[in-house]
Amino acid sequence: MKRLISFLFCVAVFMLCAGAERETKNQKEMNRFIENLMKQMTLEEKIGQLSQCSGEFATGPDNHRISRTEEISQGLIGSMLNVSGAEKTRQMQEAAMQSRLKIPLIFGQDVIHGFRTGFPIPLAEAASFDLKAIEQSARCAAIEASAAGLHWTFAPMVDISWDARWGRVLEGAGEDPYYGSLVAQARVRGFQGNDLSANNTIMACVKHFAAYGAPAAGKDYNSVDMSMGHFANFYMPPYQAALEAGAATFMSAFNDFNNQPSTGNSFLLRHLLKGEWGFKGFVVSDWGSVQEMISHRYARDEREAALKGITAGLDMEMVSECYRHNLAQLVADGTIDEELIDDAVRRILVKKYELGLFEDPFRYCDVEREKKITHSQPLRDASRHMAERSIVLLKNEQNILPLSPNIKSVALIGPLSKSQKDMCGAWSCADPSRVITLYEAMQQRGVTINYSEGYDLESDKIVDLPHTLAQVNRSDVVVIAMGEEAWESGEMRSKADINIPAGQQQLVEEIVKTGKPVVVLMMCGRPVIFNTIREKAPAILCTWWLSSEAGPAICNVLWGDYNPSGKLPMTFPQHIGQIPLYYQYKSTGRPAGQDVWCTKYIDQSDQPAYPFGYGLSYTRFDYSNLRIEKSSEEGVYANVLVDVTNTGRYDGEEVVQFYVRDEYASITRPVKELRGFEKIALKRGETRTVKFPVTDKQLGFYDNQMNYVVEPGDFTFMVGPNSQEVQSVLFTL
Ligand code: BGC
Repeated sequence: MKRLISFLFCVAVFMLCAGAERETKNQKEMNRFIENLMKQMTLEEKIGQLSQCSGEFATGPDNHRISRTEEISQGLIGSMLNVSGAEKTRQMQEAAMQSRLKIPLIFGQDVIHGFRTGFPIPLAEAASFDLKAIEQSARCAAIEASAAGLHWTFAPMVDISWDARWGRVLEGAGEDPYYGSLVAQARVRGFQGNDLSANNTIMACVKHFAAYGAPAAGKDYNSVDMSMGHFANFYMPPYQAALEAGAATFMSAFNDFNNQPSTGNSFLLRHLLKGEWGFKGFVVSDWGSVQEMISHRYARDEREAALKGITAGLDMEMVSECYRHNLAQLVADGTIDEELIDDAVRRILVKKYELGLFEDPFRYCDVEREKKITHSQPLRDASRHMAERSIVLLKNEQNILPLSPNIKSVALIGPLSKSQKDMCGAWSCADPSRVITLYEAMQQRGVTINYSEGYDLESDKIVDLPHTLAQVNRSDVVVIAMGEEAWESGEMRSKADINIPAGQQQLVEEIVKTGKPVVVLMMCGRPVIFNTIREKAPAILCTWWLSSEAGPAICNVLWGDYNPSGKLPMTFPQHIGQIPLYYQYKSTGRPAGQDVWCTKYIDQSDQPAYPFGYGLSYTRFDYSNLRIEKSSEEGVYANVLVDVTNTGRYDGEEVVQFYVRDEYASITRPVKELRGFEKIALKRGETRTVKFPVTDKQLGFYDNQMNYVVEPGDFTFMVGPNSQEVQSVLFTL
């Protein structure tokens, strides 16, 4: 036996060595190929590689050039966005193959949550706290998108945000840098797999670098101003984590950072990303953001914008044409060294090589594969799996949920229950006609549906209340679909008021008065405020926008085929004036909790409606026996253990959360920070011990010089079902 093990070990070592050798050989071959190619390229052709054009539709101001086939066939365009489909991408690639050096195009698109098969919006997926499912979602998106000729997605968006007014929170993983980092990595892994050259993987693009999630006043595209210490501890970690997971590309942000637009920000791109972090991929601008440096009043004209972009380390320009019109002249007059351009070109060519495009530029353009994969059942199943896990149970008085199988009739209220389009949410590539709505899914369950529109989405007014109440009165239970329409959250969808309209809230109040059991479904793309509903409705589920399988997933949760397990990845405020509201605030010199002379409002509570990490289950979980145990494992200071018991009536899943407070430090630190979690499945009556190892990752922080430090001293470890209901123990390092 021993012999066999050592033989296997030798084989493994041999294979590893051979693999490593092969890799370097491959790399050498690639470098030789690229250097050889670059020697043949004219400056104009090199600059072409740095230019990206938009195809069929615009995802930004529509005043930029769109693709021209002649330019592609002259080798003057390196990449296209917003063109997909095996046939269409093949045609364009054929044009690229007409060019002198036959350098293939890269096709990119915002594949943000699924592709033709829609998956829940990213914020909803983050609510699952299920990294495996999130990775799987990105994998599915990659499989379907790559079958449509795409090589590259502009995702994941890893911007942390504490401001629900900013409509793009929809696209991220919420407010927490620790969790956001893990989600970022899961998504990168899902999109890229472990081989970029496989024809079912696509390159990830980490965006928006940097700190795009903190625009002043929650207004999209607004300025960002934050200290380096704040950036390093709260906003930076997910970018770095995504890079560690092997992300192939980055996108610069629209906003300024430390008084310089990110797109022309040498500190961010050249010093931090490519320097300190050693990023070897390429950086693309956001839509027109090279040219927008002029509107920032950071560049006098397009020439200066090009100069600032290329100097800062911005490799590819999306849709604006500052590079195309100015880089050659900047080289000619000696303002920049051609080596700057070479570096950018090389980075892009390396990715084309890694994608396998030089070997076969058409490897992603297979019409048969596209037909077979698009909308296929495994993708839909995965979408439903993800959607069920994204739903968060916010309230469940008198155990209204799950609905009994004996329920014969449901009063289904609200136009969102019938809207395919709104379930897709923003940044959707999904085919709305294939969305199964809640209405349809209920029909498929065979229950009698007494439908009423209830309120008008446009005017937000109650419509035909007598009819609605009649439908309610003839039904066993009432399900009300409320919330936002798809256009209300997403890019450029900032809101000064995130309250659910009064009409919708009053309707719930009227319906609750009938005494019928009422379940409210909150369909939204961000944290919203709904204090009346929160108070009056006995049961509330946050169902976000779940895309293609929204209806079946919601029904499965309503009837208890799936016991909800989601937790909020962002704090839900009670009042708009509380924003930015987040759980990891600092103590301040006058901590909250006093009557006077402390940090608080005089007209509002400072408590959230629902805290970060909050979410109920149909069953109950009890936490006990929180303890610290010594560890002999290298790098592990101790283990924190807790026993979790399912004491309720159903099997279920719980996200056990581990928070840390550094009691005293050389810089001010938050009252608590998530530093671990585990999602566990417990059968009814089952107990499980959950263990959180404590390493530098749990205890450290970035000091003001951006060094990651761990300072000895006292720490409070907290464990619980959300960021507020925690038990704690003290630890001294
Ligand atoms: C967005 C990016 C997106 C790009 C291309 C921009 O408006 O900010 O996130 O990737 O458009 O569609």
